[in-house]
Amino acid sequence: MKVLVTGGAGYIGSHTCVRLIENGHEIAVLDNLSNSNEKALQRVKSITGADFKFYKADLLDKEALNSVFSNERYDAVIHFAGLKAVGESVEIPLKYYANNVSGTINLCEAMKNNNVKKLVFSSSATVYGNPKSLPITEDFPVGATNPYGQTKLMIEYILKDLYLSDNSWDIALLRYFNPIGAHPSGLIGEDPRGIPNNLLPYISQVAVGRLPYLNVYGNDYDTPDGSGVRDYIHVIDLADGHIKAIDKLNANPGLVTYNLGTGNGFSVFEMIRAYEKASKRKIEYKIMPRRQGDIAACYANTDKAKNELGFQTLYGIDDMCESSWKWQEMNPNGYK
Ligand code: NAD
Ligand code: WQD
Repeated sequence: MKVLVTGGAGYIGSHTCVRLIENGHEIAVLDNLSNSNEKALQRVKSITGADFKFYKADLLDKEALNSVFSNERYDAVIHFAGLKAVGESVEIPLKYYANNVSGTINLCEAMKNNNVKKLVFSSSATVYGNPKSLPITEDFPVGATNPYGQTKLMIEYILKDLYLSDNSWDIALLRYFNPIGAHPSGLIGEDPRGIPNNLLPYISQVAVGRLPYLNVYGNDYDTPDGSGVRDYIHVIDLADGHIKAIDKLNANPGLVTYNLGTGNGFSVFEMIRAYEKASKRKIEYKIMPRRQGDIAACYANTDKAKNELGFQTLYGIDDMCESSWKWQEMNPNGYK
């Protein structure tokens, strides 16, 4: 299939581009590089030996979007492009709503105008808010707690309405848990701008000496060791979930929703120990108060993705930390 990947220069997008090509798909990438570097795409080309088109374009620019669609014919779109920093979304909500929600509406209009009706959307476990119990199944109540999460939820509703209005669309809403790790080559990985918000990039920058210590946000949660528990999934496993979703869309399923996680929860302290083992470096840390808006624990029930997509994760925590460390050690300043 020929797949347009929006946000393909980003962290999850670049890994998915590799796996799409390795699975025999043709790709084109659309990205405005607002949170990424074109070098990631050069490296996707060197890992795969494949060439593909890159459109440096913004989803808010309707004209640019139309020319991307009129230039080539796509069978499907995987839509990663979006802003994703929770804290920033609280400070500049309008930018998040405009970029994520309006950007997605523009994309869907361009798809509709060009009769491309297969779409995979990057949703997030954040749509479950503070879950009533664990593990989380797809039919849990939803409710976001910050503007970023609201954009994901709004887009889910918009795509559901779009499907209701025209059931010739096939749409997969993929709710990711916590993606970490990197390609085993060490050539592509997560390259956050500024101080990382998320645990793993923060730990890896402590390991490589860019940051002095990790702030552990709370050791008094109702979890086995008091620190927050999350469902970390290797970015390559996550990328493969998109390949499975593309296969599913070819069977004309309508609108489908899947959790993409491993089903296993790991605490902050367990992640520190796993990273120390992988990097052979000591991770200094300080216990800090809880971070506002954090929940104690979150992990997926993976049965639906397993049964309906045949999705099964292959990599464990050690693989995730080892590949993250390889990327960090080979690229101490990211793509710069
Ligand atoms: P990322 O920031 O690395 O990638 C997003 C890409 O989208 C970037 O390359 C950015 O330049 C591009 N982009 C943003 N706005 C754009 C616009 N208006 N037009 C064109 N390009 C634009 O983020 P990621 O971690 O790879 O996440 C990919 C998707 O998955 C996002 O939608 C994110 O919300 C979602 N997601 C991420 C996580 C996570 O923890 N990383 C978890 C759940 C969901
Ligand atoms: C994990 C655990 C923290 C940083 C966020 C978004 C979510 C999704 C994934 C996109 C928590 C603790 C963290 C640090 C710490 N993104 N922590 N020190 O909060 O589960 O999810 O990213 O959709 O929407 O909210 O991930 O990596 O930030 O935190 O102690 O410096 O690590 O308290 O328990 P989170 P995270």
